[in-house]
Amino acid sequence: MVGVAAGDSPKDGWSSRSAFILAAIGAAVGLGNIWRFPTLAGESGGGAFVIFYIACVFLLGLPLVLSEIFIGRAGQTDAVGSIRKVAEASNASPTWSVFGSVGAIAAFLILSFYSVVAGWVLYYAGVMGMDLIDAILSGDPFRGALAGESQEAIQGRMGDLFANPWLLLAMHFAFMGATLYIVAHGVGGGLEKAATWLMPAFFVLLVGITIYGAFVGNMGEAFAFLFTPDWSKLTPAVMNSALGQALFSLSLGVAGLITYGSYIREGSKLGSTSAAIAVADTSVALIAGLMIFPIVFAVGLDPAAGPTLVFQSLPFAFQSMPAGALIGFLFFLLILVAAITSSISLLEVPTAYGIGERGWGRRKSALIFGGGAFLIGIACLLGYNVWSDVRILGFWPLFAETDILDTVDGFTGKVMLPLVALLTSIFIGWKADRRLVEETTGLAGPMLGLWRFLIAWVCPIAVTIILVTGLFPSILGG
Ligand code: PFF
Repeated sequence: MVGVAAGDSPKDGWSSRSAFILAAIGAAVGLGNIWRFPTLAGESGGGAFVIFYIACVFLLGLPLVLSEIFIGRAGQTDAVGSIRKVAEASNASPTWSVFGSVGAIAAFLILSFYSVVAGWVLYYAGVMGMDLIDAILSGDPFRGALAGESQEAIQGRMGDLFANPWLLLAMHFAFMGATLYIVAHGVGGGLEKAATWLMPAFFVLLVGITIYGAFVGNMGEAFAFLFTPDWSKLTPAVMNSALGQALFSLSLGVAGLITYGSYIREGSKLGSTSAAIAVADTSVALIAGLMIFPIVFAVGLDPAAGPTLVFQSLPFAFQSMPAGALIGFLFFLLILVAAITSSISLLEVPTAYGIGERGWGRRKSALIFGGGAFLIGIACLLGYNVWSDVRILGFWPLFAETDILDTVDGFTGKVMLPLVALLTSIFIGWKADRRLVEETTGLAGPMLGLWRFLIAWVCPIAVTIILVTGLFPSILGG
């Protein structure tokens, strides 16, 4: 244990190595694992996507996780300041810190729509919670969910929510407010406390619902779907989305792990720490697949239903399952917990920037950036109703058809994250001082050589491919 001051002081940091690992896993595990991963795996035909995704995580994501944590650990301040310090110690230009600013802006933009989507989860948790109370009051707590509602009514709920800006706004407000509250309480008192309470609850729920799915669902079919590759389905577009998903899921390219790494006060086993984060994040994505698809197959739903799979299909599936009212509520609670431990990490990046680079107090900084992201989020949610015709990047063919939320999501995911990841790999692979890297990471021998090769060669080349194919899909013939 490292003795550090809590509260607002610059010394505020993680109380132990395991606290850091838990918080970093909390940041990585989020809507990306439980909503985006099953959606993409389902749309992309399963096995081949999943296996390629796992390869991306370990060949590309893991070296970048270690690089970001190294920068933070070495710099001990916000992302921009930390990159600048590493650059100075390596006789490289301080201009490299620009990629920290781009990352912080990306985190801020992602937070704006992440909170809106988490708001949908909050709404569904509320609907299922009220249904559970109803089940308990009616003396049948183990009945299926939403008893007596037609399939149209259940699936129509999403459209009704989207058509109601006030309801969307209320949910967005509540979620952003909770995020802001935790971040305002600092690293030890806010971020670490949230992670140490919420992550164990998350794992219990995840394992519990997966075991439930194994009993009532079709685990065999789900297993075959997720792990039997049909390589003909691995098109360039599918590879592109698997690579992008690996970055998003590991929270890479937004300087999040630089920021979290800067609160590590002692110790240098960064290699095994990074591996623990990557393994945990990937395991949760796979378990989420094994939680959702058995239920999807058991009731004959379409695994390729897209982003609405979780919101429209599963409540319907829970209707015909034993204890569906209870499990349905717990399911949305699980996603909510995962979302909040990620959204706090998103807000922490610009908040740390405000503290480190502008000299603001923590509360002021969190309020400015959380409030700003809240306002942009309002534009995103209005894009589903009153502003449904607005195309903010309509001049760009890639975004000509996308609503406001999808445009912010697409621009950050396809442009900003890969760009920051690319610059990170070039900076670490070619510029950073080797002695500083070895001392700070604690890596040596063949592992050090392997990491160097991956970060200096494999990452820049692969990430360039994501960036270019993401921006110019015509290259892929798409
Ligand atoms: N990794 C998160 C998820 O999978 O939901 C999303 C995310 C969180 C991205 C925090 C970036 C970040 F800094």
